Amino acid sequence: MSTELDARIRLARDIERGASVLSSRVVEAFLNVPRHPFVPAFYRSEGTVHRPWRNGGEGWLRAVYADEVLVTEVDGVHAEDAPGTGVGGVATSSSTAPGLMAEMLDALDVRPGDRVLEVGTGSGYNAALLCRLAGAANVTTVDRTGRLAHAARERLGAAGFGAAAVVRADGALGCPGGGPFDRIIATCSVRRVPPAWLDQCVTGGLIVAPIGNALGGGAVACLTKLPDGGAAGRFLHRPAAFMPLRADGSPAPAHDVPAGGRRRTSVVGARVLDDHGFSFWAGLRLPPATVRAGGGSTLHDPSDGSTAHVQDHPGRPSTVATGGPRDLWQLVETAYTSWRRHHRPRREWFTLTAAPGGPQLVTYTAPDGEAVSCVL
Ligand SMILES: C[S@@+](CC[C@H](N)C(=O)[O-])C[C@H]1O[C@@H](n2cnc3c(N)ncnc32)[C@H](O)[C@@H]1O
Repeated sequence: MSTELDARIRLARDIERGASVLSSRVVEAFLNVPRHPFVPAFYRSEGTVHRPWRNGGEGWLRAVYADEVLVTEVDGVHAEDAPGTGVGGVATSSSTAPGLMAEMLDALDVRPGDRVLEVGTGSGYNAALLCRLAGAANVTTVDRTGRLAHAARERLGAAGFGAAAVVRADGALGCPGGGPFDRIIATCSVRRVPPAWLDQCVTGGLIVAPIGNALGGGAVACLTKLPDGGAAGRFLHRPAAFMPLRADGSPAPAHDVPAGGRRRTSVVGARVLDDHGFSFWAGLRLPPATVRAGGGSTLHDPSDGSTAHVQDHPGRPSTVATGGPRDLWQLVETAYTSWRRHHRPRREWFTLTAAPGGPQLVTYTAPDGEAVSCVL
């Protein structure tokens, strides 16, 4: 199937061109591990409807080997099981954009023989790349969904990586009974690094994990396990809005947000959170459950029902309608003032330190020496 091979070679070249520094071992893995067997069906979105697109012709293959995320599950319905008319809801599993996968794998610095844990098996494609880098017998991957774990196990086996362990488990607990691991990578986001990941990683080992921030300012933390049992490190420059690690039985995130009733003018425009540097900073200052919806102009905190809908008006100040006990938008306005005062710091200028069994701090030190810390 030379068209597939051509597409795969093109993707590996695109990945190599896109990232600033990328280990040649990572590029080699993308060159040699095909993506299409892991995503025989995925969704295309048409407005609010997600329609399945099954293993097909040239257009399908182009989509598989594009540097794009492929949504494979919506509200627990896998694209392979979906009716042709499509489904509505929120993405609950996907194959991450290859360029972002490559940067995360590069940061994970996997050597042959490293014992690796992946949290969030999904399609199994990233696990297959890990198998190529570490050796399949050294790879354990966990997903909370039996359907996904089963399919990934079969596909990894068919790709020659049957020695990998694919486990249905709550990844918040790492791999109970497994480990220790030299490398831990998560492909779903967490607000804080779970203690189990710290416990199951060897001293000097690496943990690469998206720290979720529902404003779209999510960032991938690259941490080294310290001798005291904690971990510390920095963030990748590239924004990474991963789906959250969900507790077993927890519902998919809500998509309908109630309207707000109190109106006022806003000192910042509706698109201010589109700046990924700022959204990272703002996300550290808003209630942790806050989500951004409504095409980006709505904030909602499902934990107390607070909402804020922002509207831009040509030639006039933006307005905001708020509801619930808290004015979420005022927190954004205050964060914007402090972000500018601190020289608009970028996510890769922050450090994350996770004390064993203690607080996890994100810290930025400004040029004047002032350190700004937020507890996750
Ligand atoms: C972005 S997808 C993973 C992509 C995957 N690595 C791949 O290559 O296709 C995120 C995955 O995290 C899984 N997930 C969410 N919560 C989880 C949990 N508590 N434990 C394990 N997996 C979880 C989801 O089921 C979903 O498959």
